[in-house]
Amino acid sequence: MSDIPPDRLTALEAAAELARLAALIAHHDRLYHQRDRPEIDDAAYDALVRRNQVIEGRFPELRRPDSPSLRVGAAPAAGFRKVIHALPMLSLANAFTPEDVIDFVARLRRFLNMSDEEPLALVAEPKIDGLSCSLRYQAGQLVQAATRGDGAEGEDVTRNILTISEIPKQISGDSVPESLEVRGEVYISRAAFLEMNQRRTAQGGETFANPRNAAAGALRQLNPAVTATRPLCFFGYALGEVSAPVAASHHEVRAQLARWGFPLNEPARLCADAEALLAYYHEVEALRPALPYDIDGVVYKVDRHDLRERLGFVSRAPRWAIAHKFPAEQARTRLKAIVVQVGRTGALTPVADLEPVTVGGVMVSRATLHNEDEITRKDIRAGDTVVVQRAGDVIPQVVRVVIEARPLDSEPYRPPEHCPDCGSLAVREEGEVVRRCTGGLICPAQAMERLRHFVSREAFDIEGLGEKIIAAFWADGLIRRPGDIFRLAVKDRDSLTPLRKRPGWGDKSARNLFEAIEARRQMPLDRLIYALGIRQIGQATARLLARHYPSYDTWRAAMQAAADREGPAWQDLTNIDQIGPAVAADLLDFFAEPHNLEALDDLAREVRLTDFEPPVVTVVSPLAGKTVVFTGTLSTMGRGEAKARAEALGAKVAGSVSAKTHFVVAGADSGSKATKARDLGVTILSEEEWLALAGGAQ
Ligand code: IVH
Repeated sequence: MSDIPPDRLTALEAAAELARLAALIAHHDRLYHQRDRPEIDDAAYDALVRRNQVIEGRFPELRRPDSPSLRVGAAPAAGFRKVIHALPMLSLANAFTPEDVIDFVARLRRFLNMSDEEPLALVAEPKIDGLSCSLRYQAGQLVQAATRGDGAEGEDVTRNILTISEIPKQISGDSVPESLEVRGEVYISRAAFLEMNQRRTAQGGETFANPRNAAAGALRQLNPAVTATRPLCFFGYALGEVSAPVAASHHEVRAQLARWGFPLNEPARLCADAEALLAYYHEVEALRPALPYDIDGVVYKVDRHDLRERLGFVSRAPRWAIAHKFPAEQARTRLKAIVVQVGRTGALTPVADLEPVTVGGVMVSRATLHNEDEITRKDIRAGDTVVVQRAGDVIPQVVRVVIEARPLDSEPYRPPEHCPDCGSLAVREEGEVVRRCTGGLICPAQAMERLRHFVSREAFDIEGLGEKIIAAFWADGLIRRPGDIFRLAVKDRDSLTPLRKRPGWGDKSARNLFEAIEARRQMPLDRLIYALGIRQIGQATARLLARHYPSYDTWRAAMQAAADREGPAWQDLTNIDQIGPAVAADLLDFFAEPHNLEALDDLAREVRLTDFEPPVVTVVSPLAGKTVVFTGTLSTMGRGEAKARAEALGAKVAGSVSAKTHFVVAGADSGSKATKARDLGVTILSEEEWLALAGGAQ
């Protein structure tokens, strides 16, 4: 279906395709924002987002509540306190060609109804590849720093930001608003990045793929003392919420930021038209190799704030700005072999094993091949010389084969008929792009991937239990399922080859591992649900479930009760907003497998499961614990924001009205849900009443 052009999809196919895209984009968002390990490049990601947009354009009534067009990025990782952004932190639309830039300027003029004679100034700035951050000053004092997160809610990284010497901790002068948010990019220089990697190599650690990941790693340290040892830098590029206006245009804001002591991204330039923007682009492109930091393009922004106000936003990005990206960096190398990796759900992914080569300053030895159709389409074969590409901070990809350099005896790629690990049949279902190992529970590769996922940072977060160690314990039969991890220390005590005597281990490192495991004997329910690695159950869905089912026992019982896929338990499950029948089916498939239930119960005996802890709500909210349903269109905020607001205030948001609903918020054109609410006697709130309850529009 992913190959059908959007204009040829039937409504039924479109609905399925929107569901697939929502899950896929959410998955890539998570990899990018939470794990700093993207699997696809910007262009491939943008193509997915565009496809989603086009399909939604054709079938607006099919737009899903979890549509990627309603949010930016992914929700924050566990570990830091959450910060709800006073103004959402948005992303930028992209331009790749001069025509895109010309179109952008023409679009602005059209929107603003401006003739060619009227001046329309834009500021052009370099786009540094780092992480965006919002700094809040209260009476001139830096009081809070937050990452972007999903754009609506980020992580509180104040203690880490305080270690960055370039960032003013206090600003003074009579022009400083009482409360002020400065937004900008946290990044790391190329030199510092290389030095960090050298140090890590010397210590036998894993190296960072690029400066952006290194900066992300540093900013996400739970211990600020570690952050302090990483040379992070900052530049300011915008204001967030301010209690009093700072200036009427962007170039004046920049001047004010400079006076307050913020480093700015230079060279910036005020440009009068598309031609001037393109001239700037080429100059910066020429400067690029000599710059001490990575840039992945330039940004053009309308200068006048009053015009920005009128231009507003389109779902993810402001209409008044655009990022003009540089082409990806490329290099040639030999593809030694196409290796097949087995994922935790059995998906087989082909990966290129490459003769190491430097692409844009980074050593590359693996590249993604996406799937077998892609290999066939590009006719990629073992032994080929290939062009590899690295765009910004993503996993490198194979662009094309240098056909002239193909060895005479090369053979087309043949997808495996059996799982490379367990030998079970590998099948590709009708209409699927991926081939899957059918080995299920007997496939060690799948089991090990599941265990890896189980101990990963967002799940049980057991430090020191890496891939190699899991494989070694697996081989010895010591760890087969999650519960085994918690019996490791006892088994190890009686083992003939205790961990501390194994190569590379000592008393201290073994003790550290066991302590790391012990520290996780208590776990909130949402983390457990996520850790199980059930298909389609990511962090956000796990949180939804844990929020809905107050305890482990209720959740487990409810999942078993829903097995009929029609009764009240099933209705209750699929009535949770954003949990559709497909996700619910994956969940119940997991529970339908007796081995899974056994493994789950085994784990539950080892671990004390605590109830879900909703994000800290600082205000006493009339919505806490209430179930809210939105219907119709709100004029002051999108559905996504309304939902986020309700949830931040402790409410559950449901998709349909039932006797359990406390409030129905009815915007313009609300239909059957409002009628049903009336019939059931559920309180209906107008948009104004909702705003009064939820704290007003911002
Ligand atoms: S302006 C409302 N200016 O690029 C949008 N962003 O791809 C405000 N970035 O999230 C962003 N350099 O993290 C802006 N000179 C610059 C930038 C810049 C880098 C980042 C920023 C943003 C991302 C969007």
